[in-house]
Amino acid sequence: MKIRSIVLAFGVAGLVAFVGCSPAPKEDRNSNSTDSNATGADLEIPEVSLDDAEVSSIDDADVQGAVTTAAVDDSPSEAELEADEATVTYPVTSELDPVEVELGAAELTAGIPGDGDLSNEAIEEWLQNPENHRPIQPTLPLGLSAAASNIQGLDANPMTKAKIELGRQLYFDTRLSSDNTISCASCHHPDFGYAKDTQFGVGVQGQEGNRNSPVSYNRIVSGPQFWDGRADSLEAQAVGPIANPIEMANTHDVAVQTIKGIPGYVMQFDAVFPGEGVNIDNVGKAIATFERAIVTSPAPYDYFEQVTSIESSWGDEIDELEEEDPELFAAYTTAVEGAKAMSESAKRGRDLFFSDKANCTACHAGANFTDELYHNLGVGMDADEPDLGRFVVTNDEKDKGAFKTPTVRNVALSAPYMHDGSQKTLEEVVEWYAKGGHPNDYLSDKMKKLDLTDQDKTDLVNFMKEGLTSDFPKVEAGRLPL
Ligand code: HEC
Ligand code: HEC
Repeated sequence: MKIRSIVLAFGVAGLVAFVGCSPAPKEDRNSNSTDSNATGADLEIPEVSLDDAEVSSIDDADVQGAVTTAAVDDSPSEAELEADEATVTYPVTSELDPVEVELGAAELTAGIPGDGDLSNEAIEEWLQNPENHRPIQPTLPLGLSAAASNIQGLDANPMTKAKIELGRQLYFDTRLSSDNTISCASCHHPDFGYAKDTQFGVGVQGQEGNRNSPVSYNRIVSGPQFWDGRADSLEAQAVGPIANPIEMANTHDVAVQTIKGIPGYVMQFDAVFPGEGVNIDNVGKAIATFERAIVTSPAPYDYFEQVTSIESSWGDEIDELEEEDPELFAAYTTAVEGAKAMSESAKRGRDLFFSDKANCTACHAGANFTDELYHNLGVGMDADEPDLGRFVVTNDEKDKGAFKTPTVRNVALSAPYMHDGSQKTLEEVVEWYAKGGHPNDYLSDKMKKLDLTDQDKTDLVNFMKEGLTSDFPKVEAGRLPL
């Protein structure tokens, strides 16, 4: 039998009942049973497969206590049952015509209009508007747009404004963690290029694994997730950290019960997932949808390419562009302006990046500057027990020490670098490539010693810093339901 979720309570009585349902207080937890000597890979692998029972056995009795309390709180009061009868119906996505929206638009990620904590009235008004439930056919900003054919996951999990907004709230909500201190944003924060400036992700009670937090933008054009690609989809990835003992250290059950205790969330889940409401899969779907909406806007490099392409097709007649094709001329003018952030050094760096001499596009290829494949550069391979990366997933010898090629769009914003956060600056990364990586039995055959002058190295760095840095969409980091 499917357990019914708490549906929006309209009456004051219902709201009062919910107030008592606040998530577990911040308390001193003493879950130190996690083996801190285990490798990050060991600890991280269970993220996708561990069921809650296993996780709670790792954790202390506290969590069990929370489960019991939450379970009791879940039994609906009479007022809630009454409210349930009176549940409003919201516009249904499958009955609405789709609309095309370019990702990056502030309207998608800037939060429900208004300031401060989200009142149920503001949520209600938002949910009543059919525009927020209309299926979105996303288009990508200039530059990333060349990867449009790689857009993933929308058939199984259609995008709507209401779902993006729900995912945004969950992404920034520390109440999903066992002690209310950690959210997704703790390790993937907009202020740190959707990553974090620490070497490793730092979770509940300061626990660390041995992998660096990768970026959580441009996920819409990416397939399997994690440095080793062990999560098949963004949805599968998104629910992992909640139950990961060294990240948010919660259980899926407790997280779901916590959400069910927050009326503003219950209203949104009921509206966004009609007939289903709050469950862990829908938490994953909402968060994944928010992540898909976070894309990099056109970078100076993208404008530079556009200028080059327009100038080469118009040649000597570029002076006539304004008269002949005013629309293209407008785009050209914008592009000329946008490309200005690229110095001569960055332009030389661009040429190098795409050349055989530096060989970067052997792996950082395509609109998102990644082949989405796994390569061994030798990073961390000098350790006594190296992190074997992709090998742990495939058991294929050739994958030992191989990690997924990360995007280098906006890479200047997310130091430190590499799967183990071992390289602090882009200068250091370029030196790594110049020396051909670290020799080991499994080194990628695409890694070779490069013949680069100091100027070449500076140019490559400047290309990444000046050419590939662009704005993120405007994102509201607060404004959560009480
Ligand atoms: C304690 C820090 C921490 C928290 C909290 C955390 N992450 Fe992560 N995240 C990481 C680390 C470290 C990795 C890389 C792990 C690996 O590859 O084994 C990662 C990987 C990812 C990836 C894969 C990116 C790629 O390029 O493959 C995504 C997406 C992501 N996290 C999103 C989230 C979301 C959504 C949440 C909240 C539900 C979250 N993270 C919570 C640290 C964290
Ligand atoms: C053989 C494929 C390959 C080649 C060639 C290559 N990269 Fe990479 N790049 C990767 C992989 C894989 C990683 C992550 C490796 C790891 O963490 O172990 C990476 C990491 C990086 C990072 C760090 C990104 C982050 O978020 O941590 C930067 C910057 C980078 N590469 C730039 C370059 C530049 C510049 C070149 C050319 C000089 C280049 N790459 C050539 C595959 C490659």
